[in-house]
Amino acid sequence: MPPALSATDFITFPPEQAALGQLLFYDKILSGNKNISCGTCHHPKFGTSDGVSLGIGEGGVGLGKDRHGGTGHARIERRVPRNALALWNLGARDVHTLMHDGRISRADTYNNGFNTPAEEWLPGGLNSLLAAQALFPLTSETEMAGGTGENEVAGAVYDRIDKGWPIIAKRVRSIPEYGHRFVAAFDHINTPKDVTIVEIANALAAFQALEFQSYDSPFDRYLGGDEGALDASQKRGKALFFKAGQCASCHSGPLFSDQKFHALGLPPFGPGRTRRFDLIARDVGRMGESDDIADAYRFRTPMLRNVALTAPYGHNGAYANLADMIHHHGDPVGRFDSWMPDDAGLPEVPWLRSVDFIIMQDKAEITRQRRGIAPIGQGLTVSNIDDIAAFLKALTGATLDTPPLGVPSTVPSGLTVD
Ligand code: HEC
Ligand code: HEC
Repeated sequence: MPPALSATDFITFPPEQAALGQLLFYDKILSGNKNISCGTCHHPKFGTSDGVSLGIGEGGVGLGKDRHGGTGHARIERRVPRNALALWNLGARDVHTLMHDGRISRADTYNNGFNTPAEEWLPGGLNSLLAAQALFPLTSETEMAGGTGENEVAGAVYDRIDKGWPIIAKRVRSIPEYGHRFVAAFDHINTPKDVTIVEIANALAAFQALEFQSYDSPFDRYLGGDEGALDASQKRGKALFFKAGQCASCHSGPLFSDQKFHALGLPPFGPGRTRRFDLIARDVGRMGESDDIADAYRFRTPMLRNVALTAPYGHNGAYANLADMIHHHGDPVGRFDSWMPDDAGLPEVPWLRSVDFIIMQDKAEITRQRRGIAPIGQGLTVSNIDDIAAFLKALTGATLDTPPLGVPSTVPSGLTVD
């Protein structure tokens, strides 16, 4: 069993910065077309994710399963290619690798402390891995930036990845309430003019690190010595998880992740995360980042606290419930072959219907993906699966309804809050 997680495992940030980050996290001012915030895809109502297998980014309307592809010229052209990750416990000091493919990590590849898609263009002064990450949704055409020609941020990003950030920073610091709050929260900021994207990212990191800490689940109480915190089924599930099922060989340590990459063979669909020379809508996972053939179709092991709240599951949300996701671990090849599009529950976007599952018709690619599946966790029977699912439900925090800061009712830009 892993050691317990506690407050001392987390990076601490000034509370004024976290409070400022709360407003920014839910403020659509950070998106090119001012129509989506971080909170739209990482909402507490959906366990800090978005409740769907593949999300609908900027241009979409609504929240969770009710979100649709928008209308008129603003409507979406493609889906977000991967399932929105939950944000629990990412402020823990031990977290070194973010994203399904690990493309944002702590490393000194570019002499700036982080290995990110911005390479040497990443600004200095970022206070954490979470701060480095916060810069990238802003530059993504489908997530927040919008299409070139639609707004000044998207146009600048098209030119070079770092060029949109000063435009966003200027938008934010020009709003008087933000200007004052940055001066109050950061020692080195003397006037609103000093605010750059770095302080914005640092505030977003401070908020996420504080707000989404969660280690008071029944299982955490059990780790603390309260034998009665788990019922009989959860205890059986726990034994399977840590012993026979070997789940903890990958979902290891206090965070339930080795932060490494494995090929589970989730059935592919959606636009894929195509690279420049990819002709098909596929997602090669870690290999897209490492260029190492051994990493083909591998994805980072997800952390599992509050996992009962973050359906659908897997890097593309291929499974709508925990039992099916666990079942897949026990019989990955069988499930790869028998999976049906309805298992994902992809929200309908009529004009994307013809491309959503097009990858499944590419026999050569499907054969390659099937061949890449690594054998794992054999011998899970149905009652085993129910017990393991019961155990995973015991990883849900007890005080999620009373977070430190919550969703603000209004934000300084005056834009709507989701
Ligand atoms: C359109 C939906 C969308 C929006 C908006 C969005 N995200 Fe995300 N977020 C995602 C998806 C999808 C992923 C996983 C992407 C991948 O791994 O390729 C992700 C991943 C992350 C991660 C990595 C989590 C982990 O475990 O590695 C963090 C942190 C994060 N987002 C924070 C933010 C912040 C901060 C913002 C606002 C600046 C934001 N997101 C805006 C969809 C979104
Ligand atoms: C070989 C490493 C490995 C083992 C062993 C393993 N997992 Fe996983 N697990 C992963 C990876 C990798 C993913 C993500 C796969 C993807 O997105 O393509 C995952 C995904 C999951 C998810 C979905 C989480 C989410 O947020 O989407 C759950 C739940 C899960 N595993 C539970 C288990 C259970 C229960 C066991 C034991 C029966 C287990 N895992 C054994 C590597 C492993």
